[in-house]
Amino acid sequence: MRQPLIAGNWKMNGSRESVKVLLDGIKHSVHDVSTAQMAVCAPHIFLGDVQAQLENSKIAWGGQDISVHESGAYTGETAGSMLADYGCEFVIIGHSERRTYHAESDQLVAEKFAAARQSGLTPIFCIGETLQEREKHITEQVVARQIDAVINHCGVKMLGEGVVAYEPVWAIGTGVTATPDQAQEAHNFIRTKIAELDAKVADELRILYGGSMNAKNAADLLAQPDIDGGLIGGASLKSADFMTICQAAQ
Ligand code: 13P
Repeated sequence: MRQPLIAGNWKMNGSRESVKVLLDGIKHSVHDVSTAQMAVCAPHIFLGDVQAQLENSKIAWGGQDISVHESGAYTGETAGSMLADYGCEFVIIGHSERRTYHAESDQLVAEKFAAARQSGLTPIFCIGETLQEREKHITEQVVARQIDAVINHCGVKMLGEGVVAYEPVWAIGTGVTATPDQAQEAHNFIRTKIAELDAKVADELRILYGGSMNAKNAADLLAQPDIDGGLIGGASLKSADFMTICQAAQ
């Protein structure tokens, strides 16, 4: 049985004050969620505050990016050991916003996956096609290419130590969600592809859906057999919405 995971990706939002209010709200109703795992991925500058507020709770936390380097002259970057030092369990890898705005290649993302594992972090490895790619009917080629980069660099066993997040780029921040059928089809393709190499890894791997998932549409998406949770952007910034999604994952 794969334990559902609902992870919030706060992106570059918030302040120390709003983080406090948001986490107070989440902690207030945490007892309503029994089976799903919960996590928040915060801007790195807030991780000390997040750690202080979530330590000894059952909510995990993580970063939004990682450097491939262990330390040194890499201005502005965050090493995996630093994230681990702040108690992070997770780190988002290869989000489409980093692939697009920071020109992160499949190869770099694969190296980041390995760097995360090196520091004992669980990568939340994001993949997904653009609208143009979907319209060209090459969704499967695109996600296969993105996954193969990690498998070639890290091996399929290490892929299985992470979490995959299928996030169609056209659904991110647009209010246009993939339909449950569209998402299930992509998730099933991903699991089947990995099963060709290692059936056990494929069976145990959690594949999250991300892209305009919210309190209203979460239950239908999460009811699909190959959707094991969600990576939530906008709706993770409101504690009531985030907790409604967490409850829908049970
Ligand atoms: P939205 O939920 O705001 O569409 O963002 C999804 C996302 O990019 C999560 O990583």
